Amino acid sequence: MTRVLPADDEGSVRDAADRLRAGELVALPTETVYGLAARAYDEDAVLSVFAAKGRPGFDPLIVHVTRASRAELEEQGVLDGSRLSEAAARAVDALAALWPGPLTLVLPKGPSVPDAATSGLDTVAVRAPSHPTTRAVIDALGEPLVMPSANRFGRVSPTEAAHVADELGEAVALVLDAGATEHGVESTIVGIEDDGTARLLRPGALPRETIEEALGAPLGEPAHAGADGGEAPLAPGMLASHYAPRKTLRLLDAAEVDLAKDAPPPEGRPGVILYSNARRIALEARWAPAHTRVLSPEGDDREAARKLFAALRELDASDADWILAELPPEGDGLRPAIRDRLRRAAAAR
Ligand code: TXA
Ligand code: MG
Repeated sequence: MTRVLPADDEGSVRDAADRLRAGELVALPTETVYGLAARAYDEDAVLSVFAAKGRPGFDPLIVHVTRASRAELEEQGVLDGSRLSEAAARAVDALAALWPGPLTLVLPKGPSVPDAATSGLDTVAVRAPSHPTTRAVIDALGEPLVMPSANRFGRVSPTEAAHVADELGEAVALVLDAGATEHGVESTIVGIEDDGTARLLRPGALPRETIEEALGAPLGEPAHAGADGGEAPLAPGMLASHYAPRKTLRLLDAAEVDLAKDAPPPEGRPGVILYSNARRIALEARWAPAHTRVLSPEGDDREAARKLFAALRELDASDADWILAELPPEGDGLRPAIRDRLRRAAAAR
């Protein structure tokens, strides 16, 4: 049986750190989603994270730290500072000032990080989470953790402790429960290039505007934008299909057009995910849903992001025959992350 313990308890934190030290896997709450943690420096523990998730070896993990200045990352052997140009080092310092928080930076990999964690790449993704539980566990262990979202590969990310047990069952020895996560979508991933250019690799909980303000420059687009333009950034492992429910998911755009334009709607009654209450009456009249979830009645992006994955999960487990979700129009703040997750969740598998 998976043990679930309250996160705000010293004994739980100690238990988690002890298990991690012994090479076990523990699920921890972060401010974005729940993560599946293992000692970053232990290659066997890292490999067991891939096994527990059913994750392909080409999809690298994020190393989570609490000591996160450029000097501290070098000192821990997480970052190879000798491979940072002056311009890149300046960008790292500007962005590290946003930590702790929902930002991940892709940097030259230091010698302490095993190749398994980075899928053999010479770069490493690093994040300093702000959640007090995860920070306390890292500090009690005294070492960084790798922590992918605690779901089976390609599936919906967990935003509550119960989701983790549903996804991973026996594979995880212990889950620390801190209730629903604050942001509900994963961190924003930014890559830093030799000339100091920072590129957006995955939209996430930290808005682009906040990052650009800290940087004093616009973020570059990823080198390989996806087919649908702008919103398919490409870190390795950022596959078109991700965050997917088991049931068929179809998206409606702002004009209420089904984005799977050529295919007829599936048979039966959908579970409907509405972005806000704005078009509720019209959409319920047209689709006669078995269930409706409204992400944010007033159309608040923070609330919508927080509830998105739980709504997908609930409708997937419900007696609805398929799922229909309203894709909110393009916008700033959290909007790119919400649109990215919905599009990938609906992408053909
Ligand atoms: O909010 C988050 O970031 C959560 C919480 C638990 O911290 N973690 C998370 O990890 O979302 P995961 O494994 O689900 O997503 C990590 C993604 C990979 O799929 C890959 O796209 C990117 O990070 N990544 C990791 N290492 C990379 C690297 N060296 N270069 C480019 N992208 C990398
Ligand atoms: Mg994930």
